[in-house]
Amino acid sequence: MARCCGCSVRCCCWLLLLTLVALAVTATVVFIRYRNGGQVFPLPGVPDPKYAEALAVALQFFQVQKSGKLVNNEIPWRGDSALDDGKEAKLDLSKGMYDAGDHMKFGFTLAFTGTMLSWSVLEYGGAMGAAKQRDAAMDALGWMMDFLINAHPSDDVLYIQVGDPKADHKCWERPETMSEKRPLTKITTKAPGSDVAAETAAAMAAASLVYKHINGTYSSSLLDHAERLFAFADKHRGSYTRTFPELSAYYNSTTYQDELLWAASWLYHATGNRSYLSYATGKNGKEYGDLGNPRYFSWDDKRAGTEVLLSRVSFFASDGSDVAQDEGLGSYKDTADAVMCILLPESDTAAFRTEGGLLYVAEWNSLQHPVASAFLAAVYSDYMSASGKTELTCSGKSFRAADLRKFAKSQADYVLGDNPMKLSYLVGYGDSYPQRVHHRGASIPADVDTGCNGQEWLKTPKPNPNVATGALVGGPFKNDSFIDDRENVRQNEATTYNSALIVGLLSGLASTSSVAQSLS
Ligand SMILES: *[C@@H]1O[C@H](CO)[C@@H](O)[C@H](O)[C@H]1NC(C)=O
Ligand SMILES: *[C@@H]1O[C@H](CO)[C@@H](O)[C@H](O)[C@H]1NC(C)=O
Ligand SMILES: *[C@@H]1O[C@H](CO)[C@@H](O)[C@H](O)[C@H]1NC(C)=O
Ligand SMILES: *[C@@H]1O[C@H](CO)[C@@H](O)[C@H](O)[C@H]1NC(C)=O
Repeated sequence: MARCCGCSVRCCCWLLLLTLVALAVTATVVFIRYRNGGQVFPLPGVPDPKYAEALAVALQFFQVQKSGKLVNNEIPWRGDSALDDGKEAKLDLSKGMYDAGDHMKFGFTLAFTGTMLSWSVLEYGGAMGAAKQRDAAMDALGWMMDFLINAHPSDDVLYIQVGDPKADHKCWERPETMSEKRPLTKITTKAPGSDVAAETAAAMAAASLVYKHINGTYSSSLLDHAERLFAFADKHRGSYTRTFPELSAYYNSTTYQDELLWAASWLYHATGNRSYLSYATGKNGKEYGDLGNPRYFSWDDKRAGTEVLLSRVSFFASDGSDVAQDEGLGSYKDTADAVMCILLPESDTAAFRTEGGLLYVAEWNSLQHPVASAFLAAVYSDYMSASGKTELTCSGKSFRAADLRKFAKSQADYVLGDNPMKLSYLVGYGDSYPQRVHHRGASIPADVDTGCNGQEWLKTPKPNPNVATGALVGGPFKNDSFIDDRENVRQNEATTYNSALIVGLLSGLASTSSVAQSLS
């Protein structure tokens, strides 16, 4: 019998074939690396044009919300604004984004927006790229990170707010013509805000991973800020809305411990430094994590997000490794499972949903919880598929990754118009969407300078002259109804962080996706 490389001819052919396949795979990977500018984002699967189209719409809201001197602005009714923000402290705080229909820059929600947008790019940057939307996401992310870097001028000082919410909310005007004072609020060792400092650390750590293979200098700078901010947050403890009680009327932070755990988890992913993991899984996790109790993820409560983010480590850890044995980490994973169980409509612990099928947690900005939950479900289902650990057990019943993805899709479909109102809650998507979004800039014609007193544009029943494309409005009542009235803030105001959540969800659904095993 003829021998070749120590085995039979048939074997030799197989070897040759395998070598060719290996070469082809290597070439493809090299090509993709090249195409992505060095960053290996997870490979996109089969595209889904519906969600890709909605993603392109959703991302535009970040352009609508930009403060500062605009670059390549494509929103015809937007222009430069707030150019002097930060000047009183000799800082450039002109960038960043307005929080909602107002012109406040609230650091707590702005940072959360940055964390969520980063997470979305990290898991689904490949799908975003295939939909030609990654540049838009990166542009928005950079605009927020430039602001956060400038807002942290020294170790224990972080500017957490630009504008006075009372003065701001009294005015109805375009950002381009606003004239009221823009005071700054900062946290220090004597005026702590562990929640906002830790959320900012989380945002910068997550963004540092996004930029790691794209812009190493920028990535290192973000990571350096993140580590120093986390140390500040941990050492000088307190909640920013206890330090500044007048701010509790806006984004009241219920506790700060959840942000500390969340930031430590992001820092672990960004640095690989085990001390951050131990911070979250050790004593702090036991004391503050409320592990075992499933909760909803939101700008105020980061626990469900932390559980999913840390379960990433469990899913992809090799059996027998140190982390695979970490008991604390196991508790996070078990709690993440429990979160998924309340989301699955067929599980015994399923949470309430409306007749139209929307997960319903709170009336004010009702879409934030279902959209955030659906994002987590999409991510979790992809962790399950990509790790081969495809079964989830909820009180004895078994579920699969596909069940979670089905839930995620059901919530996205509801948002996009598959609901009793037949209304798309994503402005600019579909034929029918809210026309009177509570949004100062969208409601006033671009050539009108109202000063502070443009209230006639708030009160008019006419539709907005400008479309706030990409705005995800608050959403329906518990009975699936919705009133498209500009003064109906609980239902009809758009927020920038809502957009980060829907961007994450839509990018997760924009293709059949498989997430990467490692974020770095
Ligand atoms: C990296 O980011 C910084 C800050 O945005 C920018 O000034 C610089 O040009 C970027 N470098 C590269 C190589 O893209
Ligand atoms: C803010 O949260 C704290 C802590 O949960 C609570 O005691 C306080 O009543 C809340 N304030 C407002 C205005 O909701
Ligand atoms: C890990 O992080 C901790 C806390 O910031 C720090 O003290 C330690 O030096 C870091 N370890 C390494 C190996 O970088
Ligand atoms: C739906 O609920 C809202 C808020 O509770 C209520 O004002 C409205 O009348 C209800 N609509 C219907 C059709 O029941």
